[in-house]
Amino acid sequence: MDVAEGLSRVRERIAAACSRAGRDPASVRLVAVSKTKPIGMLREAVAAGQAIFGENYAQELREKAAALAGVEWHFVGALQTNKARLVVGRAALIHTCDRLALAQELSKRAAAAGLVQRVLLEVNVGREAQKAGVLPENVPALLEEVRALPALACEGLMCIPPEEGDPRPGFRLLRQLGKACGLPQLSMGMSADYEAAIEEGATLVRVGTAIFGERAP
Ligand SMILES: Cc1ncc(COP(=O)(O)O)c(C=O)c1O
Repeated sequence: MDVAEGLSRVRERIAAACSRAGRDPASVRLVAVSKTKPIGMLREAVAAGQAIFGENYAQELREKAAALAGVEWHFVGALQTNKARLVVGRAALIHTCDRLALAQELSKRAAAAGLVQRVLLEVNVGREAQKAGVLPENVPALLEEVRALPALACEGLMCIPPEEGDPRPGFRLLRQLGKACGLPQLSMGMSADYEAAIEEGATLVRVGTAIFGERAP
């Protein structure tokens, strides 16, 4: 799998989806999800113009951020409270804040570092028992608590819809919630469904496999 080729194919599809939806391509940012991928592949992506990378593991983010400067890191994985310190400040945006205890820890660590940490709230749009994320009806309450924290800035919502079936109802629900809460950023869409997500209003798409190839299991 050639990274530059993968990227250019994804960019073309993003542009086409924007065109179908009557959207400005500049309103969609591509997060290249690089978890488990070697730093050499990330460098290839940088050489092809990619500027934002998404990582799922705190330790891996720390190592890669030390090895590759000048790019924007996003954290898109499940985040344990005791790993928050590894991610605060390193990730420009944390997509996966889904509970108050985590938000409090992130804010505490950000305040100690003298910065404001940007976050998204992860929403369990499919109400799946095994999935992370706040339930849709609990978003306003969590948002209010997060907005009261001094060193967090909540910019939007993120979701991973159920693997089976049409992802669009989940995307639409996220968009409605974002609108109702005054949150402009919507992180939704992965390799299998980023075009649909863009048609439904995504402002951030998180694409791994379509750029870097399959991950080892
Ligand atoms: C939260 C999240 N978003 C996006 C991706 C990228 O998925 P894909 O490789 O299907 O594009 C992953 C992959 O692990 C992920 O965990």
